[in-house]
Amino acid sequence: MAEMDPVKLMKQEVGRAAAARVESGTVLGLGTGSTTAFAVQFIGDRIAAGELTDIKGVPTSFQASVLAKKYGIPLTTLDEVDTIHLAIDGADEVDPQFNLIKGGGAAHTREKIVDGLAEKFIVVVDSSKLVDQLGSTFALPVEVLPMAIAPVTRALTALGGTVDLRMGIKKDGPVITDQGNMVLDVKFEAIAAPAELEATINNIPGVLENGLFVGLATEVLVGEVKDGQATVRSL
Ligand code: 5RP
Repeated sequence: MAEMDPVKLMKQEVGRAAAARVESGTVLGLGTGSTTAFAVQFIGDRIAAGELTDIKGVPTSFQASVLAKKYGIPLTTLDEVDTIHLAIDGADEVDPQFNLIKGGGAAHTREKIVDGLAEKFIVVVDSSKLVDQLGSTFALPVEVLPMAIAPVTRALTALGGTVDLRMGIKKDGPVITDQGNMVLDVKFEAIAAPAELEATINNIPGVLENGLFVGLATEVLVGEVKDGQATVRSL
């Protein structure tokens, strides 16, 4: 049998570990991305096996809704529940204080609403996502109203960022978010003060939300592969 790609294997095992943390009666924030997709699949398996009952999912994207329906996770909305007990979501970078860059899937606006409301927020990543300082490897996604792209680009450049309008894959032109907006990917040399930068960017007129998640994560599950064997550790 062909061996699974190590990154995919890490994502699968960390998704499985997160799914194992879910208890019956949970209102679950369902994140977006390829790692969370494994968690959703394994949660669905546990529901189908009768191990988990009375689960309600609050999706963070169209992707999360589609996967929840596919794997049999009942959905709800923030109009219908007061509490999210647990959110499970991926990240593009994680620093030692559990601050994150998210938005690789352009879903960070809804993700921040759902993950930020959760009593517990478990981040699921492979080991390549761990960094000493945010901004080291990944550009910061910023969701912007289309009519404000030019002034917001100038404002982000003035903050020291190198700005790129995110373009679609298998779709000509820019990526359009689930809310009908565009995404600017902003590369900073390093992000020394994430909370300040998060607030400064969100204060630019036309910005909906940026991908800095500061002080929201309560646990980080990291998938690693050594000698072909996948392990998961909790930070
Ligand atoms: C989507 C996200 C994702 O959670 C993040 O991009 C990680 O994705 P993956 O698990 O596919 O590496 O923030 O907006």
